[in-house]
Amino acid sequence: MNSATITNPANRVIVPLDVPGYDEAIALLNQLPEVTFWKVGLELFVSDGARILGELKARKKRIFLDLKFHDIPNTMAGAARAAGRYGVDLLTIHACAGSNALKATQAAAVEGAAQINVPPPNVIAVTLLTSIAPEQLSQELKVNADVKTYAEGMAQLAKTSGLAGAVCSPLEASLLRELCGPDFVLVCPGVRPSWSSQGDQSRVMTPSEAIAAGATYLVIGRPITQADNPAIAWQQILDELNGKLNKMAN
Ligand code: C5P
Repeated sequence: MNSATITNPANRVIVPLDVPGYDEAIALLNQLPEVTFWKVGLELFVSDGARILGELKARKKRIFLDLKFHDIPNTMAGAARAAGRYGVDLLTIHACAGSNALKATQAAAVEGAAQINVPPPNVIAVTLLTSIAPEQLSQELKVNADVKTYAEGMAQLAKTSGLAGAVCSPLEASLLRELCGPDFVLVCPGVRPSWSSQGDQSRVMTPSEAIAAGATYLVIGRPITQADNPAIAWQQILDELNGKLNKMAN
């Protein structure tokens, strides 16, 4: 899927349900009824995953299941098959699990979705956690490559293993777009509108800059969820992106 075909800005922004439990998640869903694509991460999934995913499906929302699987191929495949049966749209796994695990996971996600007759999720790779500092990569993980080379290598491994895309910083988006082609799905957190605070994200771009750099989807949390009026913040982001997407289309 070429991201240039997604012209509706509401379909480019994913809002994380970064809350501890079911009640808080429902409150956020009710507060932002216009949001169509939600991310469910480890905390909420471990707390009440099946119920939340059922609720999102009942509300006809798209789902990014961000559980970052990393295990032996058979175990990852089993988890991906089950995720496919939830009918999720995006699913994350760690590229460093290796090509056997990536291929097995991709195939199992397709099987799981087929079992309930829904389109398979786009399985996307985490190249390197942004929490890993360059010196940790060499000194703790004993990786003999710099961060950029390692992240590029993991993105290429994901692509050659048949995955749909990768999670990356918007600052890496143009490079990975060039390296992996127009159909590779790039999901970028670390996005901050110019009017919001950076919070704990240190390497950020604005929504329109990230789209221009090649991001397919933007994950934007606190600038929306912690805003005085989340619905207005959401709309401001869409307005900014609308202008950008129109310019890119012309
Ligand atoms: O609130 P904020 O916009 O920073 O939320 C970003 C979301 O993206 C959070 O759910 C966070 O865990 C996730 N994320 C991230 N950086 C990464 C990977 C995921 O911020 N490298």
